[in-house]
Amino acid sequence: MTPQRDQAWDLFKKYNSSDSLQKHALAVEGVMRYFATHFDQADPDIWGIVGLLHDIDYEKYPEQHCVKAAEILRSEGYSDEIIRAVQSHGFGLVSNVEPMSDLEKVLYTMDELTGLITAVALMRPSRSVMDLELKSLQKKFKTPSFASGVDRKIIEQGAVRLGWSLDQVLDSCILAMRSVATTIGLAGESA
Ligand SMILES: [Fe+2]
Ligand SMILES: [Fe+2]
Repeated sequence: MTPQRDQAWDLFKKYNSSDSLQKHALAVEGVMRYFATHFDQADPDIWGIVGLLHDIDYEKYPEQHCVKAAEILRSEGYSDEIIRAVQSHGFGLVSNVEPMSDLEKVLYTMDELTGLITAVALMRPSRSVMDLELKSLQKKFKTPSFASGVDRKIIEQGAVRLGWSLDQVLDSCILAMRSVATTIGLAGESA
């Protein structure tokens, strides 16, 4: 059974009331759907739902991140594939589930990066990702004091897992976020 997107979104909102967490979920959903179209045999619905739900336990159980998520999703009938993918995004920090599949590697790499791109976009006069260029992002990536909560090492390790250059990861994530800019409030005037 393919899980329903709207049910997943309702479930996410039931556990997460913060606007920034909801926007983050929508950003990662959009990014995952975008990347699914670049991999053979990837199901954009599954990729999108994993992106939407990956931080489901974060607001209520920050100390048990990726552990409670498995419990919640299992009790809601989600598949082992989805649960495993959700848990793998915390690999090395809060989970032992190593990102192995294309879906898992993309989630692991792009999760932190969407946070960095959001922070960079919100600094711009346009408050938009539509006119954000790779070189601006590269500069902020190399400035550890900017959005210091974003762990650059995870993004670099994710790039290695994917076999992509760091620039390829940064550039493609900008494009992915543009695909969902209006939904996440980063389309600026051109919305
Ligand atoms: Fe997370
Ligand atoms: Fe996240």
